[in-house]
Amino acid sequence: MITIALSKGRILEEALPLLTAAGVTLAEDPDRSRKLVIETNRPDVRIVLVRASDAPTYVQYGAADLGVAGLDVLHEHGGEGLYQPVDLEIGRCRMMVAVPEAFDYEGALARRSRLRVATKYIRAARDHFGARAVQVDLIKLYGSMELAPLAGLADVIVDLVSSGNTLRANRLRAVEDIMDISSRLIVNPAALKMKHAEVQPMIAAFRAAVESQRGLAR
Ligand code: PRP
Repeated sequence: MITIALSKGRILEEALPLLTAAGVTLAEDPDRSRKLVIETNRPDVRIVLVRASDAPTYVQYGAADLGVAGLDVLHEHGGEGLYQPVDLEIGRCRMMVAVPEAFDYEGALARRSRLRVATKYIRAARDHFGARAVQVDLIKLYGSMELAPLAGLADVIVDLVSSGNTLRANRLRAVEDIMDISSRLIVNPAALKMKHAEVQPMIAAFRAAVESQRGLAR
């Protein structure tokens, strides 16, 4: 049996065509079901639905053999105990620093002000500002980072930006790029060894599916 950890939402939506191309289709629609374990057309493959930030943990501990996780989540997790053999080229966005339109970010940096930074991505934010010797107080949030400066909780946010619509709608502007994000296939190294005959073809099938999608996109 191979277990694949996926998270509902954009990752599931964009990973499904890759799974299908890899020969795996879900026995039921995860958006209509409350089930967390979903059978597939292959009796030896099942899907577990996890929260996006939990996917690396399931794979690290071998509760899932494979999974899909964004680089944002992998960076926070640290990636210990995980192979990341394929960039699935889905879930693309950028991790950025953003501030209210009226906030003088450049001036604050020049004055070496201490900044209050609200984010879900504590490790990435600490690395980013640490590398620039900017003094920060990090405030951990679990969602809607854009609200923090509007409500006076923070001066600055570190968040994911895709279309930029959420920033614009909340009168924020992006001031620095932290990293380009896409989702990776993650694999438990012990499963790759012990279940090589099952897991290796699955990795190869994902890799081929990505290449074929890339060909279609051209
Ligand atoms: C992400 C991110 C931003 C938004 C950016 O949130 O945190 O809020 O998308 O997208 P845009 O640039 O296209 O507007 P998501 O909806 O994934 O939910 P989250 O707050 O739970 O991360």
